[in-house]
Amino acid sequence: MTNIASENKEQISVIGAGTMGSGIAQLAIIHGHPTVLVDANEASLARGTDAIRKNLDRDVEKGRKTAQQVASALSLLTASSDIAKCKGSEIVIEAIVESLPVKEELFSKLESLLAPGAILASNTSSLSIAALAGSRKSPERVVGVHFFNPAPLMKLVEIVPGLLTNPSVTARCSALVTSWGKTSVCAKDTPGFIVNRVARPFYGEALRIAEEGLPYASIDASMKDLGFKMGPFELMDLIGNDINYAVTCSVFESFYYDSRYRPSILQRRMVENNLLGRKTKHGYYDYRSGDAAVLSASRPSVEISDRILAMLINEAAEAARLQIASPKEIDLAMTLGVNYPKGLLGWCDELGAAKIVTQLDALKARYGEERYRASPYLRDLAANNGKFFK
Ligand code: NAI
Repeated sequence: MTNIASENKEQISVIGAGTMGSGIAQLAIIHGHPTVLVDANEASLARGTDAIRKNLDRDVEKGRKTAQQVASALSLLTASSDIAKCKGSEIVIEAIVESLPVKEELFSKLESLLAPGAILASNTSSLSIAALAGSRKSPERVVGVHFFNPAPLMKLVEIVPGLLTNPSVTARCSALVTSWGKTSVCAKDTPGFIVNRVARPFYGEALRIAEEGLPYASIDASMKDLGFKMGPFELMDLIGNDINYAVTCSVFESFYYDSRYRPSILQRRMVENNLLGRKTKHGYYDYRSGDAAVLSASRPSVEISDRILAMLINEAAEAARLQIASPKEIDLAMTLGVNYPKGLLGWCDELGAAKIVTQLDALKARYGEERYRASPYLRDLAANNGKFFK
């Protein structure tokens, strides 16, 4: 069945048919792009295409799409283990394993295969776009296009140009994901981009508090009382401690061991003990007999939530000061990418920067650690009674 809407739409290739790649390919076909989904592993390719079919069938069952729309979308999908099928694609989005040499090898193959104007986009969460572009003949066409999991549902996409990315490449990617119903924010090529950087204290500060003996359930209850859908420990159990710990280590290393991003020994021990969270049925909480243990009532503590929130606001302020993105985009990214109840900088405006600086100074005085240094941006606002948003 042909899809008239697809006639003018550029061909997309998605490399890697895992969690992210299959979701991205699903978005592409649903929006009328002829799409090539490539995976080096036949079994993963079959799993990925199966996942797309199941998701779309569910959409038909729930009345979100018609059978005709889904059939038409699926007719646009070509699944293959042969990279040569990407030839003719105008935009290639890679979502393969998070390894620089493997991604470099892939980009090198694609470079010789694709037309000169074709875009090489990476869904990487932790590698720099500069590192991916550095050994390319045409680094100006390399760009980060960072989706969130699950890609078909999450509204945010971070678009990350490298130092040499052509602005027209950034603009084309932003227009593409916008046409797929996403909100795109442009982030500077720095560790963790926006979301994976600004969210670090949600986990890191919670782990520090737990190391001092406070129960996980109290910390979770405190953050949920502030409006967060999940507490840090519930969320780490969902993400997987191995994944969360690896992201933390990567960000810490990339920031030249700034103590603000220091990983936690407690989390390391959890990983070493295979207490990875829901996927091993045991993490900070025990899921072996259902979810009841997680939901055990615990009283929120303002002291805990104030401390974690102050660290989150400080990180968002630093991201704004260093122009990783505008304050508006930072707030959008945290509400759409990780469902925060409010944008952190708007939240700071409500509470007053002076209050946050006082909290951070008190933490720094108590612990004597650099990690609690207040952002100069916050200090300036506090001194002038200023706000991020006028
Ligand atoms: P995954 O492990 O589910 O899928 C990766 C797929 O790539 C596998 O099917 C594998 O067979 C295939 N593959 C590996 N090397 C290949 C190659 N050289 N050529 C073709 N196919 C190859 O991984 P996932 O979680 O989908 O992550 C993919 C990328 O997306 C990574 O860069 C990751 O950092 C990033 N990412 C992951 C998110 C997540 O929540 N899982 C969120 C945002 C970004």
